[in-house]
Amino acid sequence: MDRIFSGIQPTGEIHIGNYVGAIRHWVELVDRYECIYCVVDYHAITIEHEAASMQKRILDTATVLMACGLTPDRCILFVQSHVPEHTELAWIFNCITPLGELERMTQFKEKGRQHRHNINVGLLDYPVLQAADILIYKAGYVPVGEDQIQHVEFCREVARKFNTRFGHTFPEPQVLLSKAPRILGTDGKNKMSKSMNNTIGLLEPAEAIWEKLKTAATCPHRQRRSDPGHPEHCNIFTMHQAFSKPDEILDTERNCRTAGIGCIGCKEILFKNMIEEIGPIQTRVKEISGKPEFVTEALRSGAMRCRLIVGKVMDEVRSKIGVKSEWLAG
Ligand code: TRP
Repeated sequence: MDRIFSGIQPTGEIHIGNYVGAIRHWVELVDRYECIYCVVDYHAITIEHEAASMQKRILDTATVLMACGLTPDRCILFVQSHVPEHTELAWIFNCITPLGELERMTQFKEKGRQHRHNINVGLLDYPVLQAADILIYKAGYVPVGEDQIQHVEFCREVARKFNTRFGHTFPEPQVLLSKAPRILGTDGKNKMSKSMNNTIGLLEPAEAIWEKLKTAATCPHRQRRSDPGHPEHCNIFTMHQAFSKPDEILDTERNCRTAGIGCIGCKEILFKNMIEEIGPIQTRVKEISGKPEFVTEALRSGAMRCRLIVGKVMDEVRSKIGVKSEWLAG
């Protein structure tokens, strides 16, 4: 079976953008691939972070992933820093990566603008660690959103460079894009993100979600109830495509275009479908929170399974670059 690797930052508060864009896709893949999913805490420290809440954010993130179905019987789930070989391989990749390539990365330039006071080397090096995450498992596929395509492209280049220089070692992994629509934040303009204050949290109570949906941006061309709407310009319709059944999506589209329903009516249908899907996840999170060892045990065994894989690969890598000392062990 082909192997898949992907990672998620331990932001703590997972929103429906993360869920639709990544997690739900990850769950779909577990039957067809050998899946390895990682909470990337070492990536999270490239921007200013709160050390005191890090463990909680890591565990909260893992809890949600498990509640969505990413349990140890179906995939490997682990925390990046529990497998330190990732950072070791990143160092080796550093030494075959031209500085200019990293400086050109879109995410680096964007984050550099957002965090002007803290443009650290780790932020620049972020894609190298990501390449190490993927290649250390010789993964064939990487399920990510569009914003990560450039990083996977970069990862392929790292593999190519390493292979050319030291002999064939790594496959070039391919992006697996989810077919799910890209939902925007409640402002209808920006990507859903905590820093934009436009999120709908996966674990928010239903009433809070309804309050946010009620005021969420819709089609900007529809001023009055009697105006026909334009679903293609409406983020609420995109959310329908993510949460509603095909026939309801069609009905909603037609009713919107003919002004058969108003925006509130449309949002009510969406709300019902959204809660139908995320309600059971919320229940599962509550259950799991009652037995935290379920999560810590999964992460512990996940890291152990990873260590078996990366031990062999790192031996091969160290050997190829000439730093493996056979006499050390004896
Ligand atoms: N950079 C990814 C993101 O922000 C997270 C990530 C880290 C990742 N390492 C990875 C994704 C390896 C895929 C593969 O979404």
